[in-house]
Amino acid sequence: MGQNESAVSLKGRRILLGVTGSIAAYKAAQLCRLLVTAGAEVQVVMTPLAKQFITPLTMATLSKHPIRVEFFDPENGAWHSHVSLGEWADCYLIAPATANTLAKMAAGIADNLLLTTYLSARCPVVVAPAMDLDMYAHAATQQNLRTLAERNVRIVEPAEGELASGLHGKGRMAEPETIAAFVGELLTEKKKTLQGKRFVVTAGATIEAIDPVRFLSNHSSGKMGYAIAGELARRGAAVTLVSGRTSLDVPSGVERVDVLSAAEMYDAAVEAFKQADGAVLCAAVADYTPAEVADRKLQKGDGEMTLTLKRTRDIAAALGADKGDRLLVGFALETHDEQAHAEAKLHKKNLDFIVLNSLRDAGAGFRVDTNKVSFIDRSGREELPLMSKTEVASRIADKIENHLRACYAASQSKTTR
Ligand code: PMT
Repeated sequence: MGQNESAVSLKGRRILLGVTGSIAAYKAAQLCRLLVTAGAEVQVVMTPLAKQFITPLTMATLSKHPIRVEFFDPENGAWHSHVSLGEWADCYLIAPATANTLAKMAAGIADNLLLTTYLSARCPVVVAPAMDLDMYAHAATQQNLRTLAERNVRIVEPAEGELASGLHGKGRMAEPETIAAFVGELLTEKKKTLQGKRFVVTAGATIEAIDPVRFLSNHSSGKMGYAIAGELARRGAAVTLVSGRTSLDVPSGVERVDVLSAAEMYDAAVEAFKQADGAVLCAAVADYTPAEVADRKLQKGDGEMTLTLKRTRDIAAALGADKGDRLLVGFALETHDEQAHAEAKLHKKNLDFIVLNSLRDAGAGFRVDTNKVSFIDRSGREELPLMSKTEVASRIADKIENHLRACYAASQSKTTR
């Protein structure tokens, strides 16, 4: 057994493996073997074209189950129910996933068993795209992947390398070991790894009143911050979510404090941080607020109007100045010179790491269900692919856990010296 094979445990898990018509289908055999070796029960559904690339006999032998391709068995008329297949699985993994299948999934087309099963599946769905570099880079494919990510389909990014066409670029299906590890991670029950810890999370937009009718604000929906609060709570942390106005439900197990203005958010966050082990500052907070708020509606005149703004107080900087050995994570939303701006904020606000998202990346930033972020800390930058905000939240929580573990190890080695 190879090193990677033993790393994944899928004992008792039921995985439906979908195979589509790509040259990478030969890797589905190795993937199936890895999943079975890791303890999973695997059933395979193939598109008719996939049979041209790898035989059903190979897949049936490796999965120890008959293969499903058609809606019924032409020999005896037995019906292959896509609904029960979707209900049976703990995870529906489509690998390789061609550009054609991804497009049909995004459009809701159901012209084969693999696709009808996708539409009926209630379990997490994972796709491992495989195609030529230009097909992968094409705006239509990228849009389809964004659509699927927004619907919470997990994407195992293809790798760069030599392609079947002889060209070199991004589009090769990820290696079977990588895909098996991804599924293993997805299906592993999250342990209460943050039990006993308390976090403050800020989320959403602030609202700065101009008069009783008008205000200054921004486009933040709160989705990113709510996903983080929910993920930290799922891992056992006590979470105070200081939230600007949003239409989102409070995540389970989270205590929410509603605020409107940057000043109110400042007060609530500083207060909650007194008892906390750390904070994640995801809110889009106004940097300026009207110097004076009119108590009556401002009436329009014929000419221009000048509004005088004054600086708000910076929550991240205030918590950073008082953080001691507690953990502080900030966000940076940029439109240009992303790295330099994020690094400047990391140092100025005394953050442990900063999550950079750029409005130049499609599918990133305000309102959407996906994000494309990089983590920047004092040791460098880690760039993540486009993924759902739920997944970004999970990666942030992983990084927080790693940080806490490193701090604990450092404190232990100090006391034993
Ligand atoms: O809410 P969504 O629609 O899901 O969108 C998510 C998001 C784009 C709002 C989020 O991913 C994000 O980037 N949040 C931070 C946006 C921002 O205001 O960044 P900034 O570069 O202006 O601020 C840097 C950091 O300082 C942030 O952690 C911010 O919360 C914090 N800050 C800023 C000003 C202030 N007065 N107090 C602060 O704490």
